[in-house]
Amino acid sequence: MKTFLGVGSGPGIGLATAERFAREGFRIVLSGRNPAKTATLAQRLTAQGYEAHIRTVDAGDPSSVASMVVDVERSFDGIDVMHYNAASMRKAGITDRPATRSTGTWRSTSAAPLPPPRPSSPLCVNVARAPYC
Ligand SMILES: NC(=O)c1ccc[n+]([C@@H]2O[C@H](COP(=O)([O-])OP(=O)(O)OC[C@H]3O[C@@H](n4cnc5c(N)ncnc54)[C@H](OP(=O)(O)O)[C@@H]3O)[C@@H](O)[C@H]2O)c1
Repeated sequence: MKTFLGVGSGPGIGLATAERFAREGFRIVLSGRNPAKTATLAQRLTAQGYEAHIRTVDAGDPSSVASMVVDVERSFDGIDVMHYNAASMRKAGITDRPATRSTGTWRSTSAAPLPPPRPSSPLCVNVARAPYC
């Protein structure tokens, strides 16, 4: 069975993409900062008969992403598709938000390096930032 890892899985594009891969027979691993929210999303997949697991990650912290990737690779004998999805969407003008808010968004969507590509690197679907892979 192939493995799909969502990095920063939310109820929008994050879950929809995972569901699409689940329909293709992939095992799904969803991840996010809030395990309760991630578990609720995973339950929506398991309720449809799909295999879904969760992990906790802060995409703004490179070591958190790296250790999760290693954990998922070891748990499921590799990762076939990684969906980099983490982003905090806020409907506000640039003058309406505190600078720390913008910095945090930038850190999770643009600054966090993904693990370096290896010969066995997964296909990476990246909707959160400029192309990395
Ligand atoms: N919606 C659009 O119109 C649109 C357009 C173009 C591109 N995109 C991109 O597509 C992706 C999905 O967008 P969406 O609106 O559908 O969102 P989504 O998949 O519903 O949720 C995105 C998830 O990212 C999580 N996240 C944010 N910062 C994180 C961090 N530091 N570590 C881990 N998880 C984090 C959020 O969880 P928390 O609850 O922890 O914040 C949220 O659940 C985003 O990358 C977005 O930039 C969206």
